Amino acid sequence: MLARGIRSYHRPSRLAEAIELVKQGAVPLAGGTRLLASAREIPNVVDLAALGLDQVELDDGDLRLGALVTLQAAADSPIVHSATGALLTAACRAQQPSRMVRNLATLGGESVFASPDSEVAAALLALNTVFVVERSDGPLESPALRFLRNPAEDVAQGILTSLFVPGAPEGTALERVAVLPSAPALVAVAVAVSFSGDQCGRARIALTGLVGAPARVPEAENRMEGSHAEDADIERAAEQVATRAPFRDDAHAPAAYRRQVARVLTRRALHRAVKQARSGQLPAAPRSRPTSRGRALVALPYFTSGRVELNVNGETRRPEVEARTTLLDALRRDGLWGVKHGCETGECGACTVLVDGRPVVSCLMLALRAQGRNVQTVEGLGTPDALHPVQQAFVDTGAVQCGYCTPAMELCAKALLEALPDPTEGEVREALAGCLCRCIGYVKPVQAVQRAAGGATADEP
Ligand SMILES: Cc1cc2nc3c(=O)[nH]c(=O)nc-3n(C[C@H](O)[C@H](O)[C@H](O)COP(=O)(O)OP(=O)(O)OC[C@H]3O[C@@H](n4cnc5c(N)ncnc54)[C@H](O)[C@@H]3O)c2cc1C
Ligand code: FES
Ligand code: FES
Repeated sequence: MLARGIRSYHRPSRLAEAIELVKQGAVPLAGGTRLLASAREIPNVVDLAALGLDQVELDDGDLRLGALVTLQAAADSPIVHSATGALLTAACRAQQPSRMVRNLATLGGESVFASPDSEVAAALLALNTVFVVERSDGPLESPALRFLRNPAEDVAQGILTSLFVPGAPEGTALERVAVLPSAPALVAVAVAVSFSGDQCGRARIALTGLVGAPARVPEAENRMEGSHAEDADIERAAEQVATRAPFRDDAHAPAAYRRQVARVLTRRALHRAVKQARSGQLPAAPRSRPTSRGRALVALPYFTSGRVELNVNGETRRPEVEARTTLLDALRRDGLWGVKHGCETGECGACTVLVDGRPVVSCLMLALRAQGRNVQTVEGLGTPDALHPVQQAFVDTGAVQCGYCTPAMELCAKALLEALPDPTEGEVREALAGCLCRCIGYVKPVQAVQRAAGGATADEP
């Protein structure tokens, strides 16, 4: 069903080649989390993964992010954290709770896909990001206000190569309301402020939950700029957000509800951002997991079908694949039934495997992307006679029922414990987010991971 219609796959290592392929009609593939789950017919793809567009660089306080930086890499980067006043790191985590999707989805793909509910897009607006698109007639620098309104126009026949975030704001905040922490936000507000002396010199307020793309509210920003950012100024800015922004009316929430919520969220976000700016204290970054840099992919000029070499659980395997074959299909066809087949859209997490030590949903990764990389499935974790400590902990805790989610949960737990042997309960929950369980729920598996880590579990004194 997925990777629908892909007949040819190209992975150039030179940008000019990639742009030429796009001009000829090939569709850019970044993380693939939208493209491979879409119902669109995509006969030819050009994979951007070998172009070296995954750099995070700081130059005199300005941040340059390659378009292929994943949401997880951005969320884990201390450079991104400090250069965006913690706003972009918070937005990447908020928008996509599943680390298995965040390890694939890219900042570029997120920006081009332009979801109306994207906290990442709202944060990029509040940070005044400039998008750099390379086309055959030269580069185009497009400010967020223009680019995010209609990305398709700017990337037509080109490739988004980098995102430029000028100078860190002094204070930022992201506030959101969703039905569940894992659900898309009904409304999110991203705020960035800077001061000149005791006056607010610059304020940017961007929202989701609108008719169309996330947008800034200049009338609200004007209420803050030049003010002393007192409670009354913040209240007036929140009032402007509520009255000026075009809130969306849909099955998830009426516009009137979104308007009320946006007023409260704007007030909260501005108070937090102003407090941060005045104190000079950035919120602490979540502990990032030290993982080795994934292997760089090499060029693959053209592929329709053939054998691909995968290193799975320490063994070399050469399954026969087509350009459109997902890693999930390649592994299951090769007899690795521990990789479970669920939704095929990145929602359930059942198909999770580790690629170069990182959990990813294998239904949204082409098999060709795993070429030359280390893939681990639950079959490589332990044996029936010698279970891996994580597997033993799941058994001892009673954290297995039908077992459909168990391979994914155990692989996520293994990746977590290798990086953070002493995780907090919050870190365990974050690691398992995106693994849906229809039987046990989310208490026993968390206890099992805590048991494997050697800590007391919630049902022990
Ligand atoms: C389970 C799940 C839940 C999700 N929930 C949300 C959510 O709540 N809110 C939200 O906003 N998003 C959500 N997403 C979307 C997800 O965050 C995006 O899919 C992701 O960020 C897109 O990035 P990608 O790198 O995977 O893009 P891809 O799927 O590779 O590409 C997306 C589009 O952008 C184009 N493109 C990508 N990169 C470039 C480039 N550099 N230059 C030119 N064109 C390019 C592609 O051709 C394609 O049309 C969800 C996705 C999944 C799988
Ligand atoms: S997330 Fe891949 S099958 Fe559901
Ligand atoms: S044990 Fe059945 S889905 Fe989790």
